[in-house]
Amino acid sequence: MKIDESIQIGNQTFRTRIVMPPIATYRCTQTGGNVTDEMIDYYGKCAANKNVGLIITEHSYITMQGKAKEKQLSIADDSNIEGLSRLTDVIHQNGDKVFAQLNHAGSAAIPNVTNMDIVAPSSIALPVVPPISDNEMPKELSKTEIENIIEAFVQASIRAKKAGYDGVEIHSAHGYLLNQFYSPLTNRRKDEYGGSLENRLRIHTETIRAVRQAVGNDYPISVRFGGCDYMEGGSTIDDCVKACRLFEKEGVDMISLSGGMCRYTRKGHTEPGYFQDMSLAVKKQVSIPVLLTGGVTTRKEAEQLIENHAADLVGVGRALLKNPQWEDM
Ligand SMILES: Cc1cc2nc3c(=O)[nH]c(=O)nc-3n(C[C@H](O)[C@H](O)[C@H](O)COP(=O)(O)O)c2cc1C
Repeated sequence: MKIDESIQIGNQTFRTRIVMPPIATYRCTQTGGNVTDEMIDYYGKCAANKNVGLIITEHSYITMQGKAKEKQLSIADDSNIEGLSRLTDVIHQNGDKVFAQLNHAGSAAIPNVTNMDIVAPSSIALPVVPPISDNEMPKELSKTEIENIIEAFVQASIRAKKAGYDGVEIHSAHGYLLNQFYSPLTNRRKDEYGGSLENRLRIHTETIRAVRQAVGNDYPISVRFGGCDYMEGGSTIDDCVKACRLFEKEGVDMISLSGGMCRYTRKGHTEPGYFQDMSLAVKKQVSIPVLLTGGVTTRKEAEQLIENHAADLVGVGRALLKNPQWEDM
């Protein structure tokens, strides 16, 4: 398998196996989180890179309460669809596929950005490294509030489809809300959303099912999964493998592996594919495509990871951010 071999995900075929993973640029309008001309220009340049087959646009907030930062991209309102359509158009014009990343920041939201309560599975400080914010203790979500968040994921998926996105990615990595439910470090709930692994993944399965129903059977759904916290008492590779098997059973089309409470880097590791201990374990147990991101800076490194069966697709983040013409000749 080479990186230039096409790959099918749901009803979509990507021209290569190199993916530009979500990289938040925070270049949206201050009010409304709308797409700007500067973003169109930037994403157009990245999509023109012939190495890339799929672009997953930066994390977009599904409700104001889940907004992580000023000038973050919004998919929380129908008024965002027009700008998002311009974004998907410029990417399609350059021959790439594009997925939307849907996110609720949970306790990583910043109170003076949202002007709302900060919420999380449990009232626990976020142990992410490095810290996303030094906010106050979050309020524990009620079951009704959890249902409302699932509905917000559904509405955001419908908007993504209307805006011309080829698929959606549910964000459960880097210490954001769904990842906070999954990690034993941040979920101490006593109800059906806490305790066992199955319970800590309940919001994931309910979200996947609800989104699937809204977008139809063929429309690709990816989960970005911070499968391992690499911290004492946190989620483990064994948990990650079980979770990915569950996602596959629930009809997810692609799993994008990254870190949990360690976020997207791993202490003491900078080698290409520094989360490959996770992806190698997952790939033995699932048959849906696995995207691995972290530390890749050359085509050759990406090729090697695919040849070694550590991944079906490889993400190249910072190298493309630094140079949209990365390895493009
Ligand atoms: C500035 C910056 C912004 C990022 N924004 C996001 C994001 O919006 N969503 C996400 O899932 N990951 C985000 N990431 C993580 C990247 O997708 C990727 O996993 C990380 O950069 C490691 O890959 P790399 O070594 O190829 O850069 C971001 C990383 C950086 C450096």
